[in-house]
Amino acid sequence: MLSLAKRTESLTPSYTIGISMKVAELREQGKHVINFSVGEPDFNVPEKAKEEAITAIRENRTKYDKVPGLVPLRKAICEKLQQENHLSYEPEEIVVTNGAKQAIMNTLNALVDPGEEVLVPVPYWVSYPEMIKLCGGVPVFVYPKDHKDYKICAGDLEPYVTEKTKLLFLNNPSNPAGALYDKKELEDIAAFCLEKQIYIMSDEVYERFCFDGTYTSIGSLSREIRDMTVLVNGLSKAAAMTGLRIGYTASTKKIASAISAMQGHLTSHPATISQWAAYEALKDCKDEINAQLEVYRKRRDLAMKYLDQMDKITYIRPGGAFYVFINAGAYREAFKGAGSFSVAFCDRLLEREGVAAVPGIAFGMDDYFRISYALGTEELEEGLQKIGSFIKSL
Ligand SMILES: Cc1ncc(COP(=O)(O)O)c(C=O)c1O
Repeated sequence: MLSLAKRTESLTPSYTIGISMKVAELREQGKHVINFSVGEPDFNVPEKAKEEAITAIRENRTKYDKVPGLVPLRKAICEKLQQENHLSYEPEEIVVTNGAKQAIMNTLNALVDPGEEVLVPVPYWVSYPEMIKLCGGVPVFVYPKDHKDYKICAGDLEPYVTEKTKLLFLNNPSNPAGALYDKKELEDIAAFCLEKQIYIMSDEVYERFCFDGTYTSIGSLSREIRDMTVLVNGLSKAAAMTGLRIGYTASTKKIASAISAMQGHLTSHPATISQWAAYEALKDCKDEINAQLEVYRKRRDLAMKYLDQMDKITYIRPGGAFYVFINAGAYREAFKGAGSFSVAFCDRLLEREGVAAVPGIAFGMDDYFRISYALGTEELEEGLQKIGSFIKSL
């Protein structure tokens, strides 16, 4: 009998796609569903970026181009990194990718050999473990001793390091918890990785969504740290360009050329039209994007106001991103014998109240569920009220 490759067998099915399908089914049946499960801005691509993409098509800027990305775009990325993150990169150190997802896969393929270990702090973004497994690496889950702020420190990492440890995944601010690391916390992690000679993949896709304090990019701490870090970012979240699929890595020239050589065989470069839209978003759309951030901040505050009124529900104030990761473990009793608590909790929430959220098990913590507040204010309030009545009913 013909079989599939072994690597397909170890993949965990995506909980988020499962939920989206349930939401679509309910909506097809005419039911009103409030969808807190999507990790996507509800804004549209900035106007000038749209115009630039349309002009690029009209002007036939549609041929094959440089594998690591259009030169003007890579220059614009370098300017952004310099101005906003105090990081000095040259265009040869940037590789533009099909979304941040490809940037992460490229990083893994460039740095991790089969059997080598990658440290993944819990809770983690759903795709990290699967991506690591796909490239033959071994995800090693790091459980912070003190879960109260969903952040790791050097002391948390220490027990998980072996001679096979190659890379640390750091997501700042984080999905699902919105945990935001400050400079001091990053210094502690950076010093540890430097001492142990562990690369850092710094996933900064939510970096613009920073509500409390100023954002620090770990590579900006010193030249040594910058050189052992692959910074991953993109325009999906920051410029509401999810469907245009533009991400990038910033790394040393050595790593960038390895990534570029691989990407050349796999996808060449992302669509030139999307790259021109990204160029314009970085150059000229800052005001439009910054105005969106204020809206997100208000929504976060609104979400916290409602959650604070719910009995036995806990969460950590999210300093960034657009999610709240909520501990509902006090209600486990009401779902006894149902297998995964968070899956049963989210299923019942969807059936009873028409509210879709993502079970915490998808992020490695089964007492929790995640909501995204990238929703219009009215819908956000209605959904939170419904979560409130659901909690009361348990
Ligand atoms: C933490 C994190 N990294 C990377 C990505 C992927 O972003 P992109 O859509 O640019 O591939 C996501 C998307 O949800 C994310 O949450």
